[in-house]
Amino acid sequence: MTTATQNLENDHVQILRLIEVMEKITGSADTDVDHLELVVKIIREFADGLHHAKEEKILFPLMVQKGFSNESGPVAVMLHDHEEGRNYVKGMAEHISLLKQGQSSALLSIYANMLGYSDLLKNHIAKENNVLFRMADKAFTPAEQESLLLDFAKVDLSADNQGSKDEYIALIDKLASVYNGYKSKTGLG
Ligand SMILES: [Fe+2]
Ligand SMILES: [Fe+2]
Repeated sequence: MTTATQNLENDHVQILRLIEVMEKITGSADTDVDHLELVVKIIREFADGLHHAKEEKILFPLMVQKGFSNESGPVAVMLHDHEEGRNYVKGMAEHISLLKQGQSSALLSIYANMLGYSDLLKNHIAKENNVLFRMADKAFTPAEQESLLLDFAKVDLSADNQGSKDEYIALIDKLASVYNGYKSKTGLG
């Protein structure tokens, strides 16, 4: 039986696969602009849209109700990391536009923002998995954890009428099959 925090940790596994793709992309001198745009789409709609929404709109407010501060301490640090991540994604998207307009030097800025995002998120995910989620496990009763999991499952089916979690995983599979040597089970790769 999956627990509420395991649901979020499963998202982390997928986000880390996407980060592996980003790191591979930044190691190549030339790259497919469609893949860069797909990375931004998956971050915005899955990592930020779906996963961070579960944390910011559901988990963190409940932790605040349990006495955690959202102005200092672990929840505040996580919120700050999410904001910093959004700045990197904005940087990626802006420079992808410039690249498409013919400014080839924009590729270096895209890569710099991708690496900044990757380092930030790897660190962020480790903090959540090792510290914040373990605090949440202790703070919530089994009944509260069960209702949290149900709320998460609803978001997974469709985030703000965008794709479902499974659809984003299929997109990550597609990129992983190109960059990470992963054999896609969906046949999209
Ligand atoms: Fe987070
Ligand atoms: Fe997270």
